[in-house]
Amino acid sequence: MARVAVVTGGTRGIGEAISIALKDMGMQVAATYAGNEERAKEFADRTGIKAYKFDVADHQACIDGIAAIEGDLGPVDVLVNNAGITRDTTMKRMDHAKWQDVIDTNLGGCFNMAKAVFEGMQSRGYGRIVNIGSINGQAGQYGQVNYAAAKSGIHGFTKALAQEGARNNVTVNAIAPGYIDTDMVAAVPPDVLGKIIAKIPVNRLGKASEIARGVAFLVGEDAGFVTGSTLSINGGQHMY
Ligand code: CAA
Repeated sequence: MARVAVVTGGTRGIGEAISIALKDMGMQVAATYAGNEERAKEFADRTGIKAYKFDVADHQACIDGIAAIEGDLGPVDVLVNNAGITRDTTMKRMDHAKWQDVIDTNLGGCFNMAKAVFEGMQSRGYGRIVNIGSINGQAGQYGQVNYAAAKSGIHGFTKALAQEGARNNVTVNAIAPGYIDTDMVAAVPPDVLGKIIAKIPVNRLGKASEIARGVAFLVGEDAGFVTGSTLSINGGQHMY
């Protein structure tokens, strides 16, 4: 039986590349998205991967969303918590909403989605969870106290949940991407981005497919001894 995988924020950017990679591994994939209908429809038509609309920051929506996916495809074996947003600005200008939205989506989303699938994985004795953190959760970044805190939280969440899942063959790992060529990074002002790229030893942005390659490794059936780890994929920008 094909494994069932859920990729949050799975219709564009890094998530799109992950959804396609998992499909190419023979999995049945459900990609979630929060708002961009047009892009989700284009993605679903092009790839044949079904897209489900719900907000990962909304706890009940995640419980209901997973129930709908499991109704269509069967029990979830693989969860990739990829959905994330930025609200970059300096501390002086950061209002409470910019803090809370990023914490609720990027970190709260990991809890909400894992909560919906973890017990099932434990009881069936198999699961793979991969959480997408960030170089900026490892090293911090000017103008990102919200994002860096949420991503850093993801790395702690990963190590704690890995300890709970281990005895039932449920692995939990993180990937810490560096700067990847996506819409999110394209939103960084060009002069700022130029300075960042100049500090990346391989001297370029990463590709979404280069993150998907790491996810494909971590969700493999033969990766059962890898748990609680963080795989940095950042062109050498931060060696952690
Ligand atoms: N270190 C020290 N000082 C810095 C700095 C840094 N890294 N970046 C900017 N500054 C300084 C500037 O030199 C400037 O100083 P002066 O006024 O003396 O010239 C001052 O701070 C203000 O800088 P800006 O003009 O850039 O300020 P702004 O208010 O227009 O913008 C900002 C602030 C929104 C944070 C902007 O700098 C920015 O977008 N930075 C990039 C943040 C970033 O890397 N985000 C990553 C998004 S992608 C992502 O998150 C994916 C992932 O996981 C990697």
